Amino acid sequence: MNSVVRHLKQNQPRFVRELADFVRFPSVSAQAKHNRDTAACAKWVAKLCRAIGLEARVCKTDFHPIVVAKTPRKKNSKKPHFMVYGHYDVQPPEPFDLWKTPPFAPRIAGRRMFGRGASDNKGQILAHLKAVEAYLKTGTELPCDLTFVIEGEEEVGSESLAGFLKKNRAELKCDAVVVSDTGLPAKNLPALTSSLRGIAAFELTIHGPSRDLHSGVFGGSLNNPAMALCQLLAQLRDRNGRITVPGFYADVRELSPRERRLMKRLPFNAASYKKFLGVPELFGERGYSADEQRGVRPTLEINGLTSGYQGEGSKTIIPAWARAKVTCRLVPNQDPKKVVAAVAKHLRQLAPPSVRVEIEHGHGAEPYWMESDGAPAQAALRALKKAFGHEPVLLHEGGSIPIVNLFKKHLGADSLLMGLALPDDNSHSPNEKFDLDVFAKGQLMSAYLWQELGGK
Ligand code: BES
Ligand code: ZN
Repeated sequence: MNSVVRHLKQNQPRFVRELADFVRFPSVSAQAKHNRDTAACAKWVAKLCRAIGLEARVCKTDFHPIVVAKTPRKKNSKKPHFMVYGHYDVQPPEPFDLWKTPPFAPRIAGRRMFGRGASDNKGQILAHLKAVEAYLKTGTELPCDLTFVIEGEEEVGSESLAGFLKKNRAELKCDAVVVSDTGLPAKNLPALTSSLRGIAAFELTIHGPSRDLHSGVFGGSLNNPAMALCQLLAQLRDRNGRITVPGFYADVRELSPRERRLMKRLPFNAASYKKFLGVPELFGERGYSADEQRGVRPTLEINGLTSGYQGEGSKTIIPAWARAKVTCRLVPNQDPKKVVAAVAKHLRQLAPPSVRVEIEHGHGAEPYWMESDGAPAQAALRALKKAFGHEPVLLHEGGSIPIVNLFKKHLGADSLLMGLALPDDNSHSPNEKFDLDVFAKGQLMSAYLWQELGGK
């Protein structure tokens, strides 16, 4: 192990350069204009895998390719087998004007690298690859067989990977999946995430007149779709932060008093949290702490609103339509399809006859929940402590990684969520960054993890 640790220490500058090369690919999975960049990024990942001694292939799909890379192994290996999952695709970088330097021209300032995808998820998956490099390049025996699955559709719902899992069940069967695509509360507070929220997405369009109309000539004699949309949406939440859709909370599993007590142990400072978010006051479902509100309670959020004239100056119209993009975050035991159906039914009932309602269902994922007393979770906690030098905490996180449920369903494998993203990494926001100290610690964490999981 000493030589593994030494290899990691000695090669940090090169690893940082490689991360910059990785971030330079605009692998934006949501934007068709970047399909070629996304494919090129997959190829680059496979090449990097081969360079560190893995056997790698780029698997074509109907959309973005999946990279599969394996550690060399004996035919009838008796070693435990783990999958390391990550994604090379990134969120759209817009709005560009809020970036201090361009999103795909990585910039290093102090111990931070700025760039879209640096944290979510390129830096995090690279940390695992570099840990394996250290084993393979120093001739240190890995106590486990590893298969890396690095996909290009995580930010758009992982549809291709879902099919890929089913088809390649035998090859991918494993004892657990290791995922670094979540967060840690602070540099000195490593974390194992034991739950993630699920998600249910839909778009609501309110149709009014057959075309934009003069608001003076016709205004007052017909409903305004933008107004109707606002009125509908405004009815979905009450002043106590509760979602008003009948049945919305029907399947929600409340936390046990013990689980709630455990969550309260995490440090939380309302004043600095408020400042960090840039809001004048916090708001959330009454009766729950902020950590509960954003980790273990369901939500309904408007992600985007569009209607009418958005250009310079004024334009006096009644818009023909208005649209909202909405997502609900879900907790055990909510079902995405059932939740969207309940919301859609409610919206149709609320809508006035003066407009036409259209609801388009989007992607969905079930929430994820893992008990943390199993052997793999305990091994993960030990590896975190060794690498960071601090006692790790258990987190319930509010984000979603749709595929982890399918790992459980198709492979029977739990996911060890060992995130390396700091709260101020700006994931999905302008000026995303990755902390290079956390990068180095993440490599150590991964190196120790294989020792802990392999029983040393
Ligand atoms: N890395 C995030 C998920 C995440 C972030 C989980 C922080 C826990 C803490 C992932 O890349 C992501 O953004 N997922 C999407 C999934 C969605 C598009 C289906 C999300 O949560 O919005
Ligand atoms: Zn993301």
